[in-house]
Amino acid sequence: MSILKGKEVVLGVTGCIAAYKAAELVRLIVKEGANVQVVMTESSKEFVSALTFQTLSGNPVITDIFRLFYEKDIGHISLAQKADILVVAPATANIIGKAAGGIADDMLSTVIMATKAPLLFAPAMNVNMWENPVVQKNIGLLRSLGHSFVEPVFGDLACGVQGKGRLAEVKSVLEEMRVVLSPNDFANKRVLVTAGPTQESLDPARYLTNPSTGKMGFAIARALKRRGADVTLVTGPTANSLPVGIKCIKVKTAEQMALAVNKCFENMDIIIKSAAVADYRPKKVSSQKIKKDGSGIVLDLEKTPDILSELGKKKGKIILVGFAAETENLLANASEKMRKKNLDMIVANDISRSDVGFGTEDNQVTIFFQDGTSESFPKMGKDEVADLLLDRILSLKSTCRE
Ligand code: CTP
Repeated sequence: MSILKGKEVVLGVTGCIAAYKAAELVRLIVKEGANVQVVMTESSKEFVSALTFQTLSGNPVITDIFRLFYEKDIGHISLAQKADILVVAPATANIIGKAAGGIADDMLSTVIMATKAPLLFAPAMNVNMWENPVVQKNIGLLRSLGHSFVEPVFGDLACGVQGKGRLAEVKSVLEEMRVVLSPNDFANKRVLVTAGPTQESLDPARYLTNPSTGKMGFAIARALKRRGADVTLVTGPTANSLPVGIKCIKVKTAEQMALAVNKCFENMDIIIKSAAVADYRPKKVSSQKIKKDGSGIVLDLEKTPDILSELGKKKGKIILVGFAAETENLLANASEKMRKKNLDMIVANDISRSDVGFGTEDNQVTIFFQDGTSESFPKMGKDEVADLLLDRILSLKSTCRE
């Protein structure tokens, strides 16, 4: 379940060319199960029609502070009070200045003034305006008061120049909303996550690998980041875009993954090994492409390092979480892996199913604990599985050792 589900979101839209992108943001927020109340400034109506936001949000759009209907039902105070988060996207230098200066002269600035909900600004403006010391001072002040910003990105600006000032990607704004709304319960925890497959070369054209896409590991890394952890992600080759704010180490082989993990494991509080590490690699890597000679071929394979087993031997107080990819005897195999690798818990999934696990958006897992208990969960999205897993890690007694 998305952290946004059931939340009351007030979305302020201010007057700049990026206002049309707020329509997509509304669509995505609604898709996550939140109720969105759009507040438009007078000048934003020059760029997008209120009807667009009304249609997408399913709620009347608020523009005028003095409309009696609004004041009776959803006036600025009740709107400010019921909001779980107030997002301003795009946010002009003007609205940032008003928020920092305590000016409340229209509906949006009045709601900003009256709310106790967290504020998230996604600025969009000309590069010179963005760099203006007054704007930066205002942003610094709002940040110091605990409010959040999704910084604009570099690119072509509406004024014809290039620079920093474009509204951040709408999905980055959505992700930052999730961060703002998430509990900060992994603050001060250093967590290492491994994800994806490894590739073990046979020759310059071929390698041994598995169908892992790294989606589960990336979901765990993102969930940890949202919940305040200091995250390091060691990932095999995947098509996932690297998450912002997470240290990423890209590797290809099991050997490289072992090296990367061993280099930083001592500094970690928690290690979550969701990578599907290849267990075998060709004993000899041919420097030239192996040619067909009409007959079959026998590959001579050797074991790769079992990274998790090695960590289990030296883990000390580190919480160690493994994954078990099984096609049969889930309970027996997963419990045995947990025991043999000295893990605090293991997350098992049945990879013989085509609707969950490798490459899919969903997973269906059973978590086994050291005390012999286990918990089975229904099929759910990988982001949801990630949050569940983190909740269970926090509930382990040893996680609360500080
Ligand atoms: N693992 C690892 N290094 C390996 C193989 C596996 O660190 N060379 C880790 C995985 O990241 C996972 C756990 O060990 O957290 C279990 O992996 P899995 O592939 O399910 O099992 P294996 O240990 O490889 O055993 P088997 O293939 O016999 O099921």
